[in-house]
Amino acid sequence: MDRRRFLSASVGTLASLGLAGVGCGRLPTLPVPRVRPRLRRPSPRPAQGSFSAGDDAHFDLGDGLRSPAWGYDGETPGPLIRVTRGEVLDVVLRNQLSQDTTLHWHGLLPPSSMDGHPADSVRPGQTFRYQFPIRQRAGLAWYHPHPHRAVSEQVYRGMAGALVVTDEEEASLGLPSDSLEHVILLGDGELGPGGRTLRYRAGPSSDRGAFPLVNGAAYPRVEVAATLHRLRLVNGARARVYELEVSPALPFVLIGNDGGLLPDAATLDRVVLGPGERVDLLLDLSRVPSGSAVDLGCRRARWSLLEFRVHESRTDRWSAAAAHPSLPPISRLAGTPIRRERVFEFQGHQRINGVRYRMDRIDFQVPFGVTERWIFRSSGGAPHPVHVHGAHFQVEQRRGGRGVVFPWERGWKDTVLLERREEVSVLIRFDQHPGRFLLHCHRLEHEDDGMMLNFEVMG
Ligand code: C2O
Ligand code: CU
Repeated sequence: MDRRRFLSASVGTLASLGLAGVGCGRLPTLPVPRVRPRLRRPSPRPAQGSFSAGDDAHFDLGDGLRSPAWGYDGETPGPLIRVTRGEVLDVVLRNQLSQDTTLHWHGLLPPSSMDGHPADSVRPGQTFRYQFPIRQRAGLAWYHPHPHRAVSEQVYRGMAGALVVTDEEEASLGLPSDSLEHVILLGDGELGPGGRTLRYRAGPSSDRGAFPLVNGAAYPRVEVAATLHRLRLVNGARARVYELEVSPALPFVLIGNDGGLLPDAATLDRVVLGPGERVDLLLDLSRVPSGSAVDLGCRRARWSLLEFRVHESRTDRWSAAAAHPSLPPISRLAGTPIRRERVFEFQGHQRINGVRYRMDRIDFQVPFGVTERWIFRSSGGAPHPVHVHGAHFQVEQRRGGRGVVFPWERGWKDTVLLERREEVSVLIRFDQHPGRFLLHCHRLEHEDDGMMLNFEVMG
């Protein structure tokens, strides 16, 4: 059966179950292809060079089906940038799209003018040079556009990439690297009525796609050795919350998140990842027989995201201790004097504390170098993944809803997920740069619709 017939067959099946007419009509879904596409490994890149934003990339939907995409230097996800702490990031962006764009370095701490703020947008045909030193600890960041009211469409169409910061502390741990390190950007997509290409629909009622995109491919596979692997995942979807698990059930070890390594490793059987969040996991496949497959899936969506095909057994230097490493301590904000408390209520799909975003308005000011407690509250329209630019924070407490701070929310974060009726308090201190930064919902349709504030860190 070719794909078209498969698609119409699945639509037909839905119709016969009476599901086709629900809401505004079911769109053709995309089944797992007969031949799963290969997992793309984005091209490696130093942190100095030029980048062109354009519409010349494509998604791989499997079985030979390609859908046009936007990306960087013709790729989606964009090239994988590696930068060492102490180096200067120096990237010239050339905008070859027909609309404004910017590069925002989600997870890095650049000066305000280099942060890709919507007011600093790069017009079509123009260039902009992002240049700033990397002074933060090792971790997984990512880059994506942040233009006024067009973040969702640009990211959905493929504009995002990962950026890895390395440092000596992390290197001394000897974590799996090269072919054993998998940097993965998760997204999702929806097909248009023809069932062959992605289409973008704006608005929070259609911001969750119908099938997964994993490094720009639908349901990919990767051939791996039977040994210890490092999985570094970014949730780059517009709105989807992934609940990751491995099947057949295999525990994995969580070692890091948004702000780098955690103070201690945790063995888990699932991890929840909201838009904008990252996790760093060790997955031990050394006991998986050669010839079998292990699946990274999303429990909520019931999707198989990525299939690991174990093809080669291998005895190497990994020990049980390597699979559960002891990690360096981190400094804690708890215990420093808390100078001020602020409450931010995320309301519906366009407001924070009753206000919709205006690019030219500063909504509040924050003193430099002091610890504050920020309380994020969800009031309708959840999930709201809350993201702050300009500083990392530490999660203190969650009340209501799920009621706990999860293992993947310890350490340093820059994005935290608010589900229905939740209130999360975080400690935050702006001690990097003064200037204008953003606080917003990282559900991209919410962000574009105004769920965002400007604040100014006072010098
Ligand atoms: Cu990942 Cu303000 O964004
Ligand atoms: Cu939101």
